[in-house]
Amino acid sequence: FWADVKQGPPDPILGVQESFNKDSSKHKVNLGVGAYRDENGKPYVLDSILKAEDILHEQRKDKEYLPITGAGEFCKLASELAYGKDSKPLKEGRVAVAQSISGTGALRIATGFLSMFYSGPKTILLPDPTWGNHIPVAEQVGIKVVRYRYFDKKTVGLDFEGMKADIEKAEPGSIVLLHACAQNPTGIDPTQEQWKELSEVVKKKKHLALFDMAYQGFASGDIIRDAFAVRYFVEQGHQIILCQSFAKNLGIYGERAGTFSMICSSTEEKDRVLSQVKRVIRPLYSSPPLHGAQLVATILGTPALYEQWLGEVKKMADRIIAMREKLYNLLVELKTPGDWGHIKSQIGMFSFTGLTPEQVAELAESAHIYMTKDGRISMAGLNDGNIQYFAESMSKVVKG
Ligand code: LMR
Repeated sequence: FWADVKQGPPDPILGVQESFNKDSSKHKVNLGVGAYRDENGKPYVLDSILKAEDILHEQRKDKEYLPITGAGEFCKLASELAYGKDSKPLKEGRVAVAQSISGTGALRIATGFLSMFYSGPKTILLPDPTWGNHIPVAEQVGIKVVRYRYFDKKTVGLDFEGMKADIEKAEPGSIVLLHACAQNPTGIDPTQEQWKELSEVVKKKKHLALFDMAYQGFASGDIIRDAFAVRYFVEQGHQIILCQSFAKNLGIYGERAGTFSMICSSTEEKDRVLSQVKRVIRPLYSSPPLHGAQLVATILGTPALYEQWLGEVKKMADRIIAMREKLYNLLVELKTPGDWGHIKSQIGMFSFTGLTPEQVAELAESAHIYMTKDGRISMAGLNDGNIQYFAESMSKVVKG
């Protein structure tokens, strides 16, 4: 049956993990996948999550199926976190929300729904570069991918004029994917003023804004600040689509908890939309898993745990910021050719180092250091035990 099936390429991000696992060196360092590690390089389970686990254990809940669109209380609390409790569309009951299999699942619901019902051009504008998975998630349902400029190699910053111009010249009504905060892979976000300008352009062109929010709280340590773009667009009347993930900010990667949501113009429209969202979800995976959503709802719905969680997100963000400072200082001390200021100014989980694919390959081969081919490093993979080794190895390959 399968004689003609060709070997597929490894996943650009998760494939790095496979190479790392195969390496038997005791010096090996994994800066590939964006998953938080503590100061000892170990996966970190938040104490608020452990407490929520205890609460759930005590409750001895049943394991019945969730509804197709997931747990109502979870969807409500998750949307309030993203949009704010006072959000007008939420208060007016016109936000269609469904629990999703984390961020990717939310994107798949969004693109599935758009491919079936969107009457505008079935074209999605993605930043260049963007998270690798955005492309197949859109293409697999027949949505055409077009890129807008984002990263300026010369300044190692945002090419804001290019971004704005490309969004402006796209066919009216296009779908524009925006990273809500801590852009993956660059770690470079528009400023609040620039978001305001982008809102104008998107509005003028009647584009549909689709936000991917995987790092609320992780970028600045402040969940309100990180939600600025989403909340501003909503205030400006954009009927956005939001794909929300709890993998990073609650450290529950494998639990796969997130939401898909869509601002509608009325409750009646919301009900119609949700009835069709159910028809997207049901043949895909029937209904979402229970446990992750129960953990999130327990934390967001228990004031003491919520406060504790805010502190824990900040702690993770602060450790990453401290590593940025340290890496920058080491590279300068080691007289590494180039300007490394971007390591400190970029935000969130990643740093887009500027290392070339050849340098990335050399680091893997000679120093057992793994990262994605585009030179992105997960800052969370660095700690006091490996940062000197990493900086020295990086400096060496840059010096050539
Ligand atoms: C990443 O970019 O490393 C994360 O979002 C994990 C993933 O699934 O790619």
